[in-house]
Amino acid sequence: MKMTDLVKSFVKNDSGCAAVFEELNIDFCCGGDVSLQTACLEQGLKTDEVYQRLMESPTSDEKDISALTPTELTTHIESTHHIYLKEALPRLTALMEKVCQAHSSRHPELKPLQAVFENLRADLEPHLLKEERVLFPLIRKLERDSLGLKMKAAEGPVRVMRQEHDRVGELLKQMRILANGYVTPDDGCQSFQLLYTELKKLEEDTHLHSHKENNLLFPATRRGAN
Ligand SMILES: [Fe+2]
Ligand SMILES: [Fe+2]
Repeated sequence: MKMTDLVKSFVKNDSGCAAVFEELNIDFCCGGDVSLQTACLEQGLKTDEVYQRLMESPTSDEKDISALTPTELTTHIESTHHIYLKEALPRLTALMEKVCQAHSSRHPELKPLQAVFENLRADLEPHLLKEERVLFPLIRKLERDSLGLKMKAAEGPVRVMRQEHDRVGELLKQMRILANGYVTPDDGCQSFQLLYTELKKLEEDTHLHSHKENNLLFPATRRGAN
């Protein structure tokens, strides 16, 4: 890998790089189409130092998914990221409500954070269903029927899913700002701490989830269209 390579290629090549980008607040899923150099410049970071860290980052224990077929990728994404969200979103809604009730008088940032989180949930849940009921079955069917993989039929739904990922990425950015980078305030109780830990995890998982769809699954359907 070189410093001029795209940010998303670093994660494609080694998913362990995702943790470094998360820590440095570098977008690798929806805004990953810039070179490492440019991304570092935008964040005011020294490219050679970041590059060094990426090269030294421990390889993620997640299994290597770069060799999966589009069908296998859809199964992997559903059985990891979709299942996670279906469990986490209702649980976080309840936890957010509890923390808001206890702390929003002293922490006015909590109410707007709750409102953005509700928008995020309202966007994500139908998004998952669209992928599970429309796009993923279509990708599996096109791959099964093969014939040079006429994946062009997937182009419209893919475009919509990409737009929805961008919007989800924007909402996650807003949440991070409102939550002060998920640093719990000194007077935050255990539930407050848990909420911020879990929201940070939601952010990380969703970045990786969007990366796998935007940068691995969707390009694979385009390759099939040729
Ligand atoms: Fe998904
Ligand atoms: Fe998606």
